[in-house]
Amino acid sequence: MTAVRHAASPAAARLRIPPCDHVPRPYTGPSRSEVLAMRRKYTNPAVFTLYGDPLLIVEGHMQYLFDETGRRYLDMFAGIVTVSCGHCHPKIVAAIRKQAETLQHATTIYLHPNFPMLAKKLASKMPKGLDVTYFVNDGSEANDLAITMARLYTGNTDVIGLRNGYHGGSPSAMGLTSHNTWKYPVPGATSIHHAVCPDPYRSAFAGTPEEIADKSADDILGIIRYSTPGKIAAFIAEPIQGVGGATHGAPNYLREAYRITRDHGGLCVADEVQTGFGRTGDHYWGFESFGVVPDFVTMAKGIGNGVPLGAVTTRMDIAEKLTQRIHFNTFGGNPVCMAAGLAVLDVIDEDGLQENSRVLGKRMKDGLKKLMTRHPLIGDVRGMGLMLGVELVRDRKTKEPAKKEALAVLEAAREMGVLIGKGGLEGNVLRIKPPMCITADDVDFTLDVLDRALLAAQRA
Ligand SMILES: Cc1ncc(COP(=O)(O)O)c(C=O)c1O
Repeated sequence: MTAVRHAASPAAARLRIPPCDHVPRPYTGPSRSEVLAMRRKYTNPAVFTLYGDPLLIVEGHMQYLFDETGRRYLDMFAGIVTVSCGHCHPKIVAAIRKQAETLQHATTIYLHPNFPMLAKKLASKMPKGLDVTYFVNDGSEANDLAITMARLYTGNTDVIGLRNGYHGGSPSAMGLTSHNTWKYPVPGATSIHHAVCPDPYRSAFAGTPEEIADKSADDILGIIRYSTPGKIAAFIAEPIQGVGGATHGAPNYLREAYRITRDHGGLCVADEVQTGFGRTGDHYWGFESFGVVPDFVTMAKGIGNGVPLGAVTTRMDIAEKLTQRIHFNTFGGNPVCMAAGLAVLDVIDEDGLQENSRVLGKRMKDGLKKLMTRHPLIGDVRGMGLMLGVELVRDRKTKEPAKKEALAVLEAAREMGVLIGKGGLEGNVLRIKPPMCITADDVDFTLDVLDRALLAAQRA
């Protein structure tokens, strides 16, 4: 059944996925329909799948994923921007295996070298002074903790995030998130405000990206003056919004936002859950492209290459505020996750992944811009390095979101062997954020596939 379901279309037949000598193991687990039936019956229905006909993925090798039939896909979404170095990267797997066989868990109430070693290594990647890390399990927890510390340190309560931002799904991170689609109508976080997004494409302000950035930063000032006691605890932003669709302002935006925040007693949080670890190409951290130094860097996803690992790094004077009560996280600092993190940081340097993101990100973005000249569906191409977004619109003047068409592109690309993601408030932005180990051939193949998928979506 699956072979028929995945039969190559005529368009797919003309395209060849770049070669790879990895041979997947024969799959012997439950059938796809059994897996689907179990999910439908026993798992919370809020846990969704991406495609109309959900994909069963049973093996991964670097930038490739395999389904139960052994069909190979080029993964241009990296497990939602998480598999930074490549699926089952041999060095990372070896580090995890070695640690799991030696000591899987003990908690931080005992000493273990991996915990401070990863903290020390992270400090070596940060601007001076940002050298104290608390490890947690994911990005939502990292953001929760950063906001808690900011409130404790400043004595202020109000927090300003950005419209169209995503910071997680725990009750307080959901409060920071600014998409109605990701918020439940339940009481949760308080004293959180959202300033306008500085991305020029859908801004209500006119002018150059820099002028839009300045006017958008003024909105922060307005919120502070009208909606808070005049002092705030924190400003939080992703340097490039991930779930929001690779949206970001001109570099002067964050500079101005950080200045206004600090003038009003607040601390600045850079949510690097998607932008960190070399993905933006020119720099290791997203905030570096904007010429700012935050007070907190929150991380998850790429730091673990697939193991549950989150972190918040800050200054010692801020971190000390947490000591006034007991704070504990059972798995934060887990030796296996720390071993993975240590290996990930090594691999990013050893395999030259930041440079690969820079070079191939440019190749991809240039190619996408060329596609834009041929496909009226593409309204905007944006992002940095291997964190790219392609916004689809029905009409370039009205910018009506092409939501259905975006889904059609995803489905057609999958049929041709390429997995990409979607985002933006309306779900009309294609998200291209692959493992950073992809090759030029992978980029060219993806561009060919997108060319055909866009044509198919336009015709549908
Ligand atoms: C920028 C950003 N921050 C925070 C989070 C939340 O991370 P997690 O899903 O690991 O809790 C995400 C998840 O997509 C994210 O993209």
